[in-house]
Amino acid sequence: MQKFRAVKVTDRVYWVGVVDWGLRNFHGYTTHLGSTYNAYLILADKVTLVDTAKVYFKEELMARIASVIDPKRIDYIISNHSEMDHSGSLPWVVEQVKPEKVFASVMGVKTLKEQLHWDVDVVPVKTGDTLDLGNMKVSFIETRMIHWPDSMFSYLEDEGVLFSQDAFSLHLATNRIFADEIDPSLLWREAATYYANILMPYSPLILKLLKQVKEMGLKPKIVATDHGPIWRREEDIARILSLTEKWALQKPTKKAVVVYDTMWGSTELMAKTIADGLREGGATAKVMPMGGSHRSDVATEVLDAGALIAGAPTLNNNLFPSMADILTYLKGLRPQNLIGAAFGSYGWSGESVKQVREALEAMNVEVVGEVKSKYVPTQEVLQECFDMGLKIAQKLNEMCEV
Ligand code: FEO
Repeated sequence: MQKFRAVKVTDRVYWVGVVDWGLRNFHGYTTHLGSTYNAYLILADKVTLVDTAKVYFKEELMARIASVIDPKRIDYIISNHSEMDHSGSLPWVVEQVKPEKVFASVMGVKTLKEQLHWDVDVVPVKTGDTLDLGNMKVSFIETRMIHWPDSMFSYLEDEGVLFSQDAFSLHLATNRIFADEIDPSLLWREAATYYANILMPYSPLILKLLKQVKEMGLKPKIVATDHGPIWRREEDIARILSLTEKWALQKPTKKAVVVYDTMWGSTELMAKTIADGLREGGATAKVMPMGGSHRSDVATEVLDAGALIAGAPTLNNNLFPSMADILTYLKGLRPQNLIGAAFGSYGWSGESVKQVREALEAMNVEVVGEVKSKYVPTQEVLQECFDMGLKIAQKLNEMCEV
């Protein structure tokens, strides 16, 4: 009985990746459904492996390769992305199979050496270069910062397969490797979650890349990602490309994310009252108490929002720790085109609202309001909260009309 098996993607391309059913944290992003680290074997005259996997899964990777061919027959390895979920096994695989050559982008060569302290000659390739596999050829497109400086796409024109590494991926552990075999509501929600938490900071570069792909006339029949399922239906490929463009544009909508934490219910009462004002003005509020929300879910909601309204009580002269966490995380994701506001309660010193405002401003949110409450909100303070929600909704209406 073969322990792990490869899955046929096209006549001459096999999926030889691994499934990480237990992954729950991917550098701060809650991967509540696990993930996969996809690798691919091209059965050309020059047998080629595209990417590897996390080091803990090296045996699974090798066993899947062995279910198709003797791994020692691998001639070339292409490293599309050197983050360790795709390169951790690379030195071990190279040691085992002794390939003729390993290829990576110019930045990839540098990153592999620096990160893995690995002393192997890796051949640098750049956009427009091609690799002759005998009866087929692979061309390369650098995709800097999508997701790391070294990232690149490899395109196997003969089979119409675009190996897209992190781009168009999602974190989902599954034994069905094609996107059309997965419940669509789960599929598209996880795709948005992945974009928000991994790719959102690089949205301007992603727009440029999508334009470049269009100009090159690239029309892949298969998009073979490094995480989650493979896209093979024409309509699914068109949809993931157009959704990626939509997410990268981050056009404001009439939706506000109200994220807060609370100590004795005062900041919570303010959050709920702001949500009422937003409704009155015609905007949808997604109210997210940090006591029961994960930062990655907040990021996903921010992806298609027009406003970010953040509230924190003051604790020991600072903003509440869970709010420092979410604001720091969101700042790193560099959301765009948002308006926002700061609010919160306090007992005596009251630094939190100023700190929330500063954090919002640091992420280029246009702050249009601020409400503070000394202890439990009075009727006047609640009116201020309601009015602020109403004002933000009106502003969102104006922004969405443009
Ligand atoms: Fe899947 Fe940027 O690594």
